[in-house]
Amino acid sequence: MSAVSAADGERVFAETIEKDLRVEPRDWMPDGYRKTMIRQIAQHAHSEIIGMQPEGAWITRAPSLRRKAILLAKVQDEAGHGLYLYSAAETLGADRGDLTRRLIEGRQKYSSIFNYPTLTFADVGVIGWLVDGAAICNQVPLCRSSFGPYARAMIRICKEESFHQRQGYELLMTMMTGTPEQREMVQDATNRWWWPSLMMFGPPDNDSPNSAQSMAWKIKRHSNDELRQRFVDMTVPQAEALGVTLPDPELRWNAEREHYDFGEIDWAEFKRVISGGGPMNEQRIAHRRRADEEGAWVREAAAAHAAKQAGARAGAAAAGARPGEQGEGGAA
Ligand SMILES: [Fe+2]
Ligand SMILES: [Fe+2]
Repeated sequence: MSAVSAADGERVFAETIEKDLRVEPRDWMPDGYRKTMIRQIAQHAHSEIIGMQPEGAWITRAPSLRRKAILLAKVQDEAGHGLYLYSAAETLGADRGDLTRRLIEGRQKYSSIFNYPTLTFADVGVIGWLVDGAAICNQVPLCRSSFGPYARAMIRICKEESFHQRQGYELLMTMMTGTPEQREMVQDATNRWWWPSLMMFGPPDNDSPNSAQSMAWKIKRHSNDELRQRFVDMTVPQAEALGVTLPDPELRWNAEREHYDFGEIDWAEFKRVISGGGPMNEQRIAHRRRADEEGAWVREAAAAHAAKQAGARAGAAAAGARPGEQGEGGAA
């Protein structure tokens, strides 16, 4: 039992949200808030980890040492993002092994965008530009999310995402000054990734049942449609500077709204892909499952090592020695 009664806890929680302060792991929080946070952070972590695959597939085929080093660093950053986020979920009592099982058994989702294939090296650039660009629009407001560990993880993640976005755009700029074939590759990749990028903001506001509660708890700060509009407004001038056409004949500046209007998103495709029917869903999960199985011995060895260390520390404590005097056994 916590020392704080539920009534006190509820009042303190409401005040924390009201005053725009952060909820910390040991604070009292409603069950619904805890569940929502675990689900959101887990889905975000899964997206980072699954998101390593589409670009990871190009590391061995990068056209130069420079491009290979950039891509390696980027994919490694995504692994780091996954790890901070799984740790943030653990502060709420979630178990990382359990979250991984939910992912590989298809019981927890990840961003639909990673279920599309990367057909050429231009996809690496377009993913950086559009997919990391959309991730930034989604994640910058999460730096002020009400749950402390999530908000703090997001600050570093966003800094790294902005490097991801710029490396993608710089790669595309280089390709656009190359051969006609290279320019065509960039246009083709843009055509394939544009609409799925818009889907990354989630369903339209009138079909987003959990949004209102998340806004009230200040987990979310802006609606899906607001963030999507912000992304479109930001991206159109970038496409013009790059010299590519965004594949939407209805895309045009609306002087009255002071925003770009854009065409209807294929929500049937979104629903199909998010529920397992995208071109790469099966392969992404199979790959993740294989990595989990192949890494089992590492987890077992780490657990055995930790148990041995704990045993050595207990033995040292029983003998009255300080752990530091136990040679390597005392090292962390
Ligand atoms: Fe990331
Ligand atoms: Fe990224």
